[in-house]
Amino acid sequence: MEQPSMSYIRVFAPATVANVVCGFDVLGFAVDTPGDEVEMFVVSQPGVRIRAIYGDEGRLPLDPEKNTVSASVLGYLQQIGREDVGIEIILHKHMPVGSGLGSSAASTVAGLFAIHQLMGRPLSNVELLKLAMAGEQLACGQGHADNVAPALLGGFVLIRSYHPLDVIQLPVPQSLVCALLHPHIEIQTRDARKILKPYVPLSDVTTQMGNLAGFVSALYKGDLALLSRCMQDVIIEPVRSILIPEYQTMKTIALSAGALGFGISGSGPSVFALCEDSATAHTILSRLQAHLQQHQIASDIFISPINRQGPRLLAAEEKTSKS
Ligand code: HSE
Repeated sequence: MEQPSMSYIRVFAPATVANVVCGFDVLGFAVDTPGDEVEMFVVSQPGVRIRAIYGDEGRLPLDPEKNTVSASVLGYLQQIGREDVGIEIILHKHMPVGSGLGSSAASTVAGLFAIHQLMGRPLSNVELLKLAMAGEQLACGQGHADNVAPALLGGFVLIRSYHPLDVIQLPVPQSLVCALLHPHIEIQTRDARKILKPYVPLSDVTTQMGNLAGFVSALYKGDLALLSRCMQDVIIEPVRSILIPEYQTMKTIALSAGALGFGISGSGPSVFALCEDSATAHTILSRLQAHLQQHQIASDIFISPINRQGPRLLAAEEKTSKS
């Protein structure tokens, strides 16, 4: 069979904020920074292998069937009937595992975007998304889409339904800036899911539905005051916030410094604030970081506009020059 015309590609895929306070498992957005990078080499020996992983402190599996990037690439090649192709992967992690920044999703999407470009883009976005969700299943034990969908599509994304999969890209208000803080503790998504209550009071469902619908309306209207009012979570935050040291104080600090809203990024421990400008984001993050330092908790901070593009190509080489 014909081999890919490119022999090498390097791509970036963004970190994501899942749940966005009021949309557990159904809402997420992408940021420009941080993000992971994947280098992919076409080689003559069929199969998918990991050459190296940098930035993971040796924690991620190198076994191609256990690593979410290689397993997803393998799934992609199986789906298009091209298991004859040989692929080697280098993964550059720029965010920690178990950070709540959509770390596994960024790597998975980078890998799928890379193989998709190499193979001439034969699949649709929905097919790519299903493969990425299988990667999340492998990484977290649950194939939720609120990280992989925005990582793949960019912007704000609503997962209207999982069965059948129905994903809606939402408008991004111009001025929104995201402030992210990653405290140096680790929470595994599978653990943060186990502590959630399977049933919630009807009155809480009503509150949450109002806020989610209002949030989506706010994006369409570009109404940041409405968006701010909707950033409340009466179901997940009360349970998960106890896993994050100083959470309530951080929330008070962020809101009093002008955040439109503040919450847990994905399953935590990272927290985020949506802001109207970068100056507010800077103020919030420096106050939060200083507060955590008083409690001997180190942290990383990121300020980013909302990423509208999803993954992007960083470099590529045609077949004759490299293999
Ligand atoms: N919606 C998922 C959760 C996102 O909150 O468990 C994990 O990043």
